[in-house]
Amino acid sequence: MGLGLFRRSLVLQQWIAKKCGMRVSLGPEDTGLVYRMPYDEVAPTHCYLNAPYDYCRGRTLELVREQVEDLPGSVAECGVFMGDFARLMNHCFPNRKLFLYDTFESFDKRDADFDVEADFVKGVSRDDLHATCKTDVLDPVSFIRGACPHPEKLVFRKGYFPETVTPDADEEFAFVSLDTDLYKPIYAGLEFFYPRLHDGGHLRA
Ligand SMILES: C[S@@+](CC[C@H](N)C(=O)[O-])C[C@H]1O[C@@H](n2cnc3c(N)ncnc32)[C@H](O)[C@@H]1O
Repeated sequence: MGLGLFRRSLVLQQWIAKKCGMRVSLGPEDTGLVYRMPYDEVAPTHCYLNAPYDYCRGRTLELVREQVEDLPGSVAECGVFMGDFARLMNHCFPNRKLFLYDTFESFDKRDADFDVEADFVKGVSRDDLHATCKTDVLDPVSFIRGACPHPEKLVFRKGYFPETVTPDADEEFAFVSLDTDLYKPIYAGLEFFYPRLHDGGHLRA
């Protein structure tokens, strides 16, 4: 996200917070939220309090948790990277299996090439796009396991999505987050997860 868009999103988040009567402010260098909000009394501090661009996503997840509370089913994230949002999901759904789909390496060349050829990304070379989401961590799966509050609920599906879906074909989901950024895995994610979403369940992409 460019800096201009980032700043505009902060302004929007502040406006939403004000409308909802929440006390939110930015730090001296626009680096973080400095006041905690009513929800924080019941939800422990999580990464989004230090990452304002994720503020709406974190709050939305808390609302979704309430909406799907009475539904059966697992939860899933497709596009996990270093597990920031997965950690939040694992916190919000401590009793549900959390399926985590990612190459845990980077974007796949097939998907990156498709987006470049279809002109979905501007000004990014194939190589740069392919290298996006590479991590310095040697073993992201162990790293994420160590960072999550209920690691026994994690089910890792490492590899190219959707080739990694077969073992979960009968699973039913109460909440799914699709965050793979690129056209092909998002499309495949909708095809796979939507029919497996419980009535009243929530899917975000
Ligand atoms: C934007 S990052 C996910 C960020 C993460 N949800 C978070 O909140 O921190 C996108 C991730 O999708 C993964 N990804 C993209 N296409 C994929 C595919 N076809 N199969 C598996 N993983 C894929 C990448 O490896 C990358 O880790």
